[in-house]
Amino acid sequence: DNTEKRYTIGFSQCMMDDVWRQAMMVEMNIEVSNYENIDIIVMDAEENNQKQIRQIRELINRKVDVLIISPNESNNLTPIAVEAYRAGIPTIIADRKINSDEYTSYVGGDSYEIGKMAGQYASSLLPDSATILEIWGTKTTSPAIERHQGFIDGLDKSKGFNIISIEGKWRREIARDETEKLPDYENIDLVYAHNDVMAIGAREAIIKRDSSLIPKIKIMGVDGAFGKDAGLEAVADGRIDASFLYPTGGDEVIKVAMKILTGQPVEKQYILEGTRIIDKPTAQTLLLQSDQLINYQNRIEQQRKNLESIVNEFSILRHSLILILLL
Ligand code: FRU
Repeated sequence: DNTEKRYTIGFSQCMMDDVWRQAMMVEMNIEVSNYENIDIIVMDAEENNQKQIRQIRELINRKVDVLIISPNESNNLTPIAVEAYRAGIPTIIADRKINSDEYTSYVGGDSYEIGKMAGQYASSLLPDSATILEIWGTKTTSPAIERHQGFIDGLDKSKGFNIISIEGKWRREIARDETEKLPDYENIDLVYAHNDVMAIGAREAIIKRDSSLIPKIKIMGVDGAFGKDAGLEAVADGRIDASFLYPTGGDEVIKVAMKILTGQPVEKQYILEGTRIIDKPTAQTLLLQSDQLINYQNRIEQQRKNLESIVNEFSILRHSLILILLL
């Protein structure tokens, strides 16, 4: 009977210690809870390519029914992702891309479009020959490359902007430290960081140097994730001026996995819709909605625990019954 069969989804996550990825996990868990016959094994590679390769190999050996990979660095993770696919495991690539088309489906937001939107928005805010500080995510990851290219294409060329770039490697502390190393801040008119946590890091560096610069410098990030110290909160409370929504695709990726498991056809690419600018009022609205999502997730957790304790009580009862019968 098909409905009885249990499936295991393996999920290799390049890092878990990150607000956007935690939001992704919440969305995945809510979607997973819609199905009774799904188990999910999540492995956190902590931004380490070698570790992620080992973990994917382990998931291959455990013969998971579907493998979801959010690769750390595109080049380094490509061979193992291809190996999984060739071993016959349906493989879904999420968020960051690999350099091969040997996978089943790709699910992710449109980083080029986000960059372009950011470039156009920056152009509308800035005077001619303004200076922009661009803070890159890790340069060997596809979203960083696309957010950069889109930004350059979105900028108004006639305005002759001056661009300074540094690499914040997707991390708040690295963005802060790299910004601190810059000789002078006086010229900077706008910060464009490839994600919100780096935008927050840059702001910390600017405040440390000279907090009177803050009202003069526009700060923009990408992601718009919910959670403590994530983009929605930072835009809503005015720490950063704007963000651009990069959906996590947590629910979508599970839906695609379910299609594969139930033998339905899937697309090669699912480019997530929803790319848009998040200004302060939008952030405030989205924050309220995300609170509901978190409540929902907590309720599901609670129900699962209740169910577990009922099952436990039942099995204790059964054991004592058997014991009584034996006596
Ligand atoms: C989190 C993150 C996000 C970003 C994505 C790009 O690890 O840096 O902030 O949107 O990864 O892959």
